[in-house]
Amino acid sequence: MHRAAIGIFDSGIGGLTVAAEIVRRLPTEDIIYLGDTARLPYGTKSAETVIRYADRAVDLLLRYPVKMVVIACNTASAYALESLREGSELPILGVIAPGARAAVAATTTGRIGIAGTEATVRSKAYQKAITALRPDAELTTRAWPLLVPLAEEGWVDHPVARLTLRTYLEPMVAAGVDTLVLGCTHYPVFKRVIEDLLATELGGYPLALVDSAEAVTTELDALLTERELHAPTREGRRSFFCTDAAERFGRVGATFFPEDVAPVFPVDI
Ligand code: DGL
Repeated sequence: MHRAAIGIFDSGIGGLTVAAEIVRRLPTEDIIYLGDTARLPYGTKSAETVIRYADRAVDLLLRYPVKMVVIACNTASAYALESLREGSELPILGVIAPGARAAVAATTTGRIGIAGTEATVRSKAYQKAITALRPDAELTTRAWPLLVPLAEEGWVDHPVARLTLRTYLEPMVAAGVDTLVLGCTHYPVFKRVIEDLLATELGGYPLALVDSAEAVTTELDALLTERELHAPTREGRRSFFCTDAAERFGRVGATFFPEDVAPVFPVDI
């Protein structure tokens, strides 16, 4: 079983930020990544639809030799994690709980900002997870819907992305948050731009950024250790699948991932 892969799923290329962190920290692990590019975005869909899509995606991953599945999508984690876990004998990790724990560990004042897709914000999953750990937390929650298309377009350090991010960051700064949860796996690609904006245009505002990719990888590593499931010492293999526009996935994905995202296999789920 330890030779089996880590299955990773997101609605598109955003989950590659999670895959990149897993590959960086756990380089001997094989990964099988599925981006449901045919149905992206999930962030504007209803709970029922997200659950149905996530179910099909995880079904596909489970047809391969996988030992654990990471739902590298906040929207799918917010709505579908519970039902996915019920239907599976393998451990299924979501990004919300690790992100909430990391936010609570990072904050000093208890004022925490949460940015995510409309659906993630509507689910209140982060709000519940954070206040369960720190009941006095003061949360400022906002949907940042324009970042997913910008990331999928590869417009990261682009004037449009900078202006959008500045507009999104201003209410967080006004609310005095000291920690910001990047509650969508597409958002960490903008980390460097956010840090630069905070340092320059936003007057050196101190803000701890919580990236669900880092938080879930720490959890995954701990679970692999606990179950003695770490891969043997060798270079892990990477396999990529997506449900539409495979060539584009490989091309844009390369900016999110430290290695070539190729070949990308088209699949129908
Ligand atoms: N990457 C997904 C998330 O973390 C959002 C992208 C989408 O809207 O499909 O929520």
